[in-house]
Order: sequence, then C-alpha cells, then structure tokens
Amino acid sequence: MRQGIIQSSKMFLVANRLEGKKVESSIRYLSDMEAVFMDKVAFSALDPQQPVYEVDCYFPVADNKSGGLFFGLTRIFPGKVGGEFFMTKGHFHSNNDTAEFYWGIKGKGLLLFMDKTRKVWAEEMTEGSVHYIPGNTAHRVINTGVEMLSFGACWPSDAGHDYGSIEKEGFSARVVEKDGKLIIIEE
Ligand code: F6R
Ligand code: ZN
Repeated sequence: MRQGIIQSSKMFLVANRLEGKKVESSIRYLSDMEAVFMDKVAFSALDPQQPVYEVDCYFPVADNKSGGLFFGLTRIFPGKVGGEFFMTKGHFHSNNDTAEFYWGIKGKGLLLFMDKTRKVWAEEMTEGSVHYIPGNTAHRVINTGVEMLSFGACWPSDAGHDYGSIEKEGFSARVVEKDGKLIIIEE
C-alpha cells in the first residue's frame, strides 16, 4: 500500500514539469516574508533576494468556479532565519469549509495545522506521505531538512485563499532548531 503511494509520488515528480499544461509559477523571496519570521535581527542580516519557496500551479478551470480542482507543486528551499526553518506563508481557504490534500514528494518537513480556535497540531511530511487538510484549518509547511522539500497539493477550484488572518495573527506555534534539536514553541 505504502509502496504504491511512493510510486505515485515518483509519477508526480515526473509531472513536476507539467508538460503541455499552462502552468503559473511564483516565487516567494525573504523580502516577501518579513512578517513571518520571529527573529528580526537574524532576518535583517540575510539577503532579501534569497528564495524561500516556489510554486507551480495548474488551474484547469477558472478561479472560483465550483466543481473543479487545482493542482500545485511547492518546493521549499532549505534554510533558517535565526533558528526558525524556512516555511510557506500559510493560509485558511476563503471559502472556509473547503479541504485539501497535500503529499510529500522529496525531502522532509512538518505540516502545521491550526483550527479557528488556534489549536495547532502537526504531521511529518516525508517522501510518500499523504495529508488531508480539513476545512476551516490553516495550513503551513516547514522544511526541517537540509535539502529541498517538495510536495504536491490538490484543492477545490472555489476554495480561494485567505492570507490576511495569518499575516495578522500568525500561527500559534513555531518550529525552530535549538542546540541541534527540533522544537515546537507554542504560544
Ligand atoms: C493551495 C495550497 C498550496 C499553497 C502552496 C504555497 O491551497 O495550500 O498550493 O498555496 O504550498 O503556500 P502558501 O499559499 O501558504 O504561500
Ligand atoms: Zn491551501
């Protein structure tokens, strides 16, 4: 069973090129993520043009149309700001009660979930791992490894993205490395 999932993720590695599809790509640099990281002094010592993650998306139907699905591949670079690992911005879906699948392709990390009461929990992301993100749940991925972390995503075409509340309130937990150990600091 697990083997099957791993084989599938290799297929997605090939699909990484999404050949013949109209792909929309974006890159998030450190300069786009100033509010995200805790250690402002460490942040100011880094190159703002350092890429943190890149995303390739395939949108087969119009944004907001119900009934369709979107597909994304995210690659998070290895790196830290102070002790805090590179991560995605994280978001709720604007159409709150829409779910999503994530699956690990390469590298290792943590998928952080946070519900509307700010309760957080995490799942380890590794090659072949599969993650169901329920509706009403913010999600962020953290690269805890030393290589690129790649993962796939599939979500409803009418989900939309709400970055505002995370930008304002953040997640109620942070993942940092201290004395060579990975620790989760809760609010
Ligand atoms: C789509 C989704 C992913 C993320 C991507 C980048 O709903 O969750 O495709 O958009 O991993 O993360 P964010 O969007 O948080 O910058
Ligand atoms: Zn999402």
